[in-house]
Amino acid sequence: MGEPALDNSAVSPPPQSLIERLKDYGQEDAFALWDELSPEERDHLVKDIESLDLSRIDRIIRCSLSSQGLLAAAVEPVPESNVSSVEERSMEERERWWKMGLKAISDGKLGVLLLSGGQGTRLGSLDPKGCFNIGLPSGKSLFQLQAERILRVQILASQSVNEGSARFTPIHWYIMTSPFTDEPTRKFFESHKYFGLEADQVTFFQQGTIPCVSKDGRFIMETPYRVAKSPDGNGGVYSALKYSKLLEDMAMRGIKYLDCYGVDNALVRVADPTFLGYFIDKGVAAAAKVVRKAYPQEKVGVFVRRGKGGPLSVVEYSELDPSLASEINQATGRLRFCWSNVCLHMFTLDFLNQVANGLEKDSIYHLAEKKIPSVHGHTEGYKLEQFIFDAFPYAPSTALFEVLREEEFAPVKNANGSNFDTPESARLLVLRLHARWVVAAGGFLTHTVPLYATGVEVSPLCSYTGENLEAICRGRTFHAPCEISF
Ligand code: UD1
Repeated sequence: MGEPALDNSAVSPPPQSLIERLKDYGQEDAFALWDELSPEERDHLVKDIESLDLSRIDRIIRCSLSSQGLLAAAVEPVPESNVSSVEERSMEERERWWKMGLKAISDGKLGVLLLSGGQGTRLGSLDPKGCFNIGLPSGKSLFQLQAERILRVQILASQSVNEGSARFTPIHWYIMTSPFTDEPTRKFFESHKYFGLEADQVTFFQQGTIPCVSKDGRFIMETPYRVAKSPDGNGGVYSALKYSKLLEDMAMRGIKYLDCYGVDNALVRVADPTFLGYFIDKGVAAAAKVVRKAYPQEKVGVFVRRGKGGPLSVVEYSELDPSLASEINQATGRLRFCWSNVCLHMFTLDFLNQVANGLEKDSIYHLAEKKIPSVHGHTEGYKLEQFIFDAFPYAPSTALFEVLREEEFAPVKNANGSNFDTPESARLLVLRLHARWVVAAGGFLTHTVPLYATGVEVSPLCSYTGENLEAICRGRTFHAPCEISF
């Protein structure tokens, strides 16, 4: 015997007012399977639709579908002279910025903001990406590496102003999650005792979601009683900060600058004093770290100018015309569009406030074409996303700061076995950099696997950029791979 058939003779119709509102926006198909739903499912569907700000979502869908292609139009390369390059930086400048940054950190002016709402589907892990252990000798997760770098910078900042004192100003860490990553992220931090940070210096907040739509802009139904939704992109950070009132929280703590970054870079220099010092010195509203693009098809956004002398912005790899991506600057022999975004941005709190209160006005979201799981199995459609760098064109002043990829960029994007940006490639980048630090500090390495395939790991609790290692390493021999810790 099969399931008893639902008796729908007494099915109550969907609330008329809701149907009318959906009709206003051409979304009444969301109720197409109403008659087949159980009372609980109908209740669920009504609540699901009621939770949506239909007029806002309609504006976003219409603006975004009609602006396809505009986002990447008319771009010019960023002149080399507009970038603070590694080559042109003097030792004195670096030291001055480092000290300025440490002073601002010890004054409590820096907050750190982690974008951790992505679903990490490419990596093939169901856990939030930050929980991922890339296979370093210590087995530390990406979250732990970042937490320990924050701990180390706190100590450096305190030592720089207050020789010998054990007291330090905590750097507040804001962590943006999404409904998909929120609970496991919080649990991971709790079960790891915040990796040595104070629990009250970490604030989690959730970004929003937005319905996925078919190519003609209609909601895709994930189930007969639920609209398919996805996180609204890492640019959802601006509205999330606004609605969770965290901009006020930052102001109350005396934070003036926010270091915002992506979770999936094993070498990320969180709360980098040099970058902060540079940012303060330049007096700009927004800045980004960049690396030179490695090859035309590399999956990185590139900084561009919108039109001749236009504002600085980023064209995401998914939106850059492949022929533009391969163009060579005949004078330098390098790629014309060569300044890659590593997803590490510094903003003033003032600018964040402006953006949080204004960016939404334009309502143009990026469209990511995807197969969305739906009542039909899958539906070809779009996920709608804002990007954190969408704010750049609105900044009154901007700056780009080149860093070396072998020192600061070890992306963890794809599962091991893929050709690029895997946990394994990131692990090797960390081990090789740290091996260089150890040798520079007078240490020696022995190894049974070839050196190019191994190295050592230096705990961030010992050293942030290779400093402080002489006492630990000079004259000592380490058998790679291993972790060097106190
Ligand atoms: C991102 C950058 C790209 C850059 C590359 C460097 C964006 C939009 N793209 O690309 O320009 O060259 O990193 O590695 O920044 N996230 C959220 N919420 C979301 C989606 C993502 O918080 O809704 C977070 C992720 O957890 C991650 C970061 O944003 O920390 C980057 O996300 P992802 O979408 O994976 O970016 P990429 O495509 O790798």
